[in-house]
Amino acid sequence: MKTKRSQLLLQEYGEIVTGGVHSNFRVPRYFKKAHGSRMWDVDDNEYIDCTVNNGACILGHGDPDVNAEVIKAVKKGLTVGVESEMSMKAARLLHEMIPSAEQVRFANSGSEAVMKALMIARAFTGKEKIIKMEGGYHGWFDEAQVSVHPDPATAGPANAPEPVLSTAGIRRNTKHNVLVTSFNDLGLLERLLAAYKDEIAAILMEPVMFNCGCILPKPGYLEGVRQLADKFKVILIFDEVVTGFRLAPGGGQERFGVVPDMSVFAKAIANGYPLAAVVGRKDLMELSRPGGSVLYGGTYNGQQSAVAAAAACLEKLKDGRVQQRLEEMTQKLSEEFQKRAKIRNIHAQLIHCGGQFQVFFTDHEIKDYRMAFSVDQRLYHEFFHAVIDNGIWFNKHYLFHHGVTYAHSDEDISLILSAFDKGLEVVKHSGK
Ligand SMILES: Cc1ncc(COP(=O)(O)O)c(C=O)c1O
Repeated sequence: MKTKRSQLLLQEYGEIVTGGVHSNFRVPRYFKKAHGSRMWDVDDNEYIDCTVNNGACILGHGDPDVNAEVIKAVKKGLTVGVESEMSMKAARLLHEMIPSAEQVRFANSGSEAVMKALMIARAFTGKEKIIKMEGGYHGWFDEAQVSVHPDPATAGPANAPEPVLSTAGIRRNTKHNVLVTSFNDLGLLERLLAAYKDEIAAILMEPVMFNCGCILPKPGYLEGVRQLADKFKVILIFDEVVTGFRLAPGGGQERFGVVPDMSVFAKAIANGYPLAAVVGRKDLMELSRPGGSVLYGGTYNGQQSAVAAAAACLEKLKDGRVQQRLEEMTQKLSEEFQKRAKIRNIHAQLIHCGGQFQVFFTDHEIKDYRMAFSVDQRLYHEFFHAVIDNGIWFNKHYLFHHGVTYAHSDEDISLILSAFDKGLEVVKHSGK
């Protein structure tokens, strides 16, 4: 694989763009164009994209219908700072699609939207603490940066994980306001809620933990969380930044039939144009209305090109056909990967949901962060290198997630599987 031009760009700009990247979740490989399921880097390498803009690209790169609406919006000249019919219509689509969306307000990024939802939950309950899942990622701000991917050796026992700050630069006392539990463990959640019952404002969680690869809720788990939230009168917030629109037109809450009090959407909402939304119960959302007790601001909220993209994108997502196709593709990837691993006697699994997936080198059931952490990281790394060298744009980090878009074809799926074959061959001979 040629990388000369990317290396030159890194040399030229690495001193002025910190680390040569604008987000720490990227690598310094520079791209020049994308179309459908494909991307091309500056060295003319062509890839089938399996990172899909961290989950944002659901329809495929450069979807013509989305782009046409964006171009129309740009030509109208409105940008930010005022509302339009489009910013109302896009919100109505969310209201119609998402079970918990009695009311809707836009923001720009997932992080921001989660912050706003937490403000509303705190204002409503008059309480400060939140509960999050160990391993869960909800953005880069203070409370979200507790126990993201902690080293279990420093994070307490599995049945009573302790909050760990995941980055420097956030307030050290943040961890006093964030309690950490394990996904799929209702007993631990109940113990925490009971122990801190007068202090907890909200439970914040992804319905499927894509930020540990892909961890599915066990049957009855989400229903149990809903019941506990009701019993202890805390606000249940689903972070649907990744699950949103992929698991069903109404997100994980529709797929699993569990309706949170508030939820947050971003990424696939506008096929990659920057937009996020906070949605939820009317009595909660109303706190943030103009003149209400919670400030809800943002120059770029509902900016015109993003809401135009969202309106076009959501129109295509609302009947469920896209989601069905995504599910079929990742189901096939999972079945075929499993067969190929088994033939080679490799303990590995490809877990998927709604067109997103991750490969884990273990045959243990992945039910929470600690199980995901304990997989064979070295084998993942070797697999990753082989897959990317065979033209599939893949994530280096073993706890990240992958996905496909509606633009991926059957041929793309076959090519991904043949790259997986090469990766599994490398893994088979690893260490020999
Ligand atoms: C589940 C989840 N929540 C929140 C965020 C933060 O979103 P953003 O990167 O748009 O701030 C992410 C980003 O990856 C995410 O995966």
